[in-house]
Order: sequence, then structure tokens, then C-alpha cells
Amino acid sequence: MTTRIFVCVSCRREAGGESEVSDRPGAALVEAIESRLQSGGHADLSVVSVDCLAVCRRPCTIALCSAAKWTYLIGDIDPEQHADEVVAAAKSFAASDNGIVPWRERPLSFRRGVIARVPPLAHEQAK
Ligand code: FES
Repeated sequence: MTTRIFVCVSCRREAGGESEVSDRPGAALVEAIESRLQSGGHADLSVVSVDCLAVCRRPCTIALCSAAKWTYLIGDIDPEQHADEVVAAAKSFAASDNGIVPWRERPLSFRRGVIARVPPLAHEQAK
């Protein structure tokens, strides 16, 4: 089953300092993830850019999605620091039955950055 890593390429990140310079880190994150996926062993993972995931204050933002699994929305991802962790999290997500990744398998950026998890369409009402 395919797992998609959606990456917002519209998020703006302040570059710091007193200037009002900002950049869009999403494109660099897509590139960094693509390069890791091309290294092999990740046939079930793909990365797809998206314009906005409505979490614009947590650049950059990603979503881990797969049919019939919970979806995770994660923010504060830095392309220079977290690309390996995103791929590791996506691998754990892909290996899970329902998309819920055990806490011990979550990289630090995943633990700190989780904004929401959304149930799959066929999810049954909680009792
Ligand atoms: S611009 Fe990235 S989540 Fe809205």
C-alpha cells in the first residue's frame, strides 16, 4: 500500500535576525526526501508537494497519508535537519497496520511536531 508524504511548499519561514526576510523551505524538503527515496528500498513511499495544509504558522508542514490509515499532520519540519527523520517516520507509518506509529518509533521531530491525526474514512465510532 502506498504511503504519501505531502509537503507544503507554500509555508514561509522567517530567516531570523532583524530583517523581514523569509524563505519557503518546503521545496528543499521535497528535494531532500526525493533524494533519500531514490537511494532505494522505499518503493512504497512517495513525496508530493502541496500548496497549503492550513497550518501556516508551523513551517514547514507535512502530512503522512495512506488509504485506510490514520493521517498525521506534522509541523516545524526543517529540510536541513529532519529529512532523514521524515523518511524514517514514513517508513514506520507504512509498516503499521492502521497508521498509528508507536511512540518509540517516532523521531523527535515527529514527537514534537504532531499537530493532528485524522481517522481514515472507514473508521468506526469510538465506544
Ligand atoms: S502555507 Fe504551509 S500550511 Fe499553509
